[in-house]
Amino acid sequence: MKNEKGGTTLKLGIIGTNGITVQFVEAAEGTGHFQLTAVYSRHEETARQFIVETHDAAIYTDLAAFFASPIDVVYIASPNGLHAGQAIQALNAGKHVIVEKPMVTDRSQLAALEEAQAAHPDQLVFEAARHVYDPNYQVIADYVKNHKGALCGATLVNAKYSSRYDAYLAGDDPNIFSPRFGGGALMDLGVYSVYTAIGWFGLPSEVVYLPNVLSSGVDGSGVASLSYDFGNVTLLIGKNYITQAPSEIYFGKTTLSFGATGVLDHAHTFGVDAQDLAKPQVENPLAYEADYFGRAIETGDHAAFAKAFNLAKQVHTVMGQLRATTDIHFGTDPE
Ligand SMILES: NC(=O)c1ccc[n+]([C@@H]2O[C@H](COP(=O)([O-])OP(=O)(O)OC[C@H]3O[C@@H](n4cnc5c(N)ncnc54)[C@H](OP(=O)(O)O)[C@@H]3O)[C@@H](O)[C@H]2O)c1
Repeated sequence: MKNEKGGTTLKLGIIGTNGITVQFVEAAEGTGHFQLTAVYSRHEETARQFIVETHDAAIYTDLAAFFASPIDVVYIASPNGLHAGQAIQALNAGKHVIVEKPMVTDRSQLAALEEAQAAHPDQLVFEAARHVYDPNYQVIADYVKNHKGALCGATLVNAKYSSRYDAYLAGDDPNIFSPRFGGGALMDLGVYSVYTAIGWFGLPSEVVYLPNVLSSGVDGSGVASLSYDFGNVTLLIGKNYITQAPSEIYFGKTTLSFGATGVLDHAHTFGVDAQDLAKPQVENPLAYEADYFGRAIETGDHAAFAKAFNLAKQVHTVMGQLRATTDIHFGTDPE
């Protein structure tokens, strides 16, 4: 099928039927690269409700039948620990993959996913680390690069009181506060900060994570420290408190300030070099990633894939190193 820009509209299938998938489908279709054609849910009624919120598409409650259907790309927004296995199933079925963050929950999943992609080199896999594709991510990257000599540290913040925390406190067991599928603050929000730290400053020499562990066994919040030759990068991560604390990158007499690492909607510097840096954002912040993924898949742009996948590999290697400094274990960890 040809889109308005003369390219091919990719047939999109989705796994996971919550709000983020509705938002992704809207963004993806808005780029002109994708058309929702198949919905997988464990429950037919949930899939029916999903197509009421989006538009008509084929419904599957059997995962094998979903993967065998004529879709080009699978977007995966299931619980964290299922991402890698479903991405591998999609690759084996000859589909491209866009998988929500975190793409994997441990190093063995990372290795298995990399191996599966290598066995299907024409199929591309992207982690939906949406902030990396926001124009302000590059604005901040450029500022850091151009002022590297003065760089001496950073505090990166991503903390928000989760809409599911009250239910957890009331005795429910939502996936995001359970070790069952790799929940917790580091996996959910910390991954955004690890992405920015590695994307802007490179790989740290040492890392440590001090989690505040809930009775479920996962971290409700925590503080991570990443050591670099220029100084320390501190990550403040939380799913059980609200904050107005900014993220900051320190350059001696100038500091670059912005908000949560996952929402790069503003950025300015203060001190000697005071300026507003931010570029305006489009309404649906997932549109940037959807456009990048759609273009890369349509044109078979392996360089775009390799750039994104290499960064994702570094991020998940460091995520594994951070968790290895704690006693947090997931139901999906290898024996
Ligand atoms: N990029 C972003 O801004 C952003 C925002 C929010 C979430 N996310 C990511 O999106 C993913 C989904 O987040 P979420 O909060 O929607 O997660 P969730 O509530 O745990 O579940 C996601 C979906 O997975 C299915 N599911 C739930 N429990 C399951 C189980 N036990 N076994 C198999 N499937 C199950 C459900 O779909 P069915 O009932 O239809 O099968 C559900 O819609 C997460 O990885 C999260 O990190 C990203």
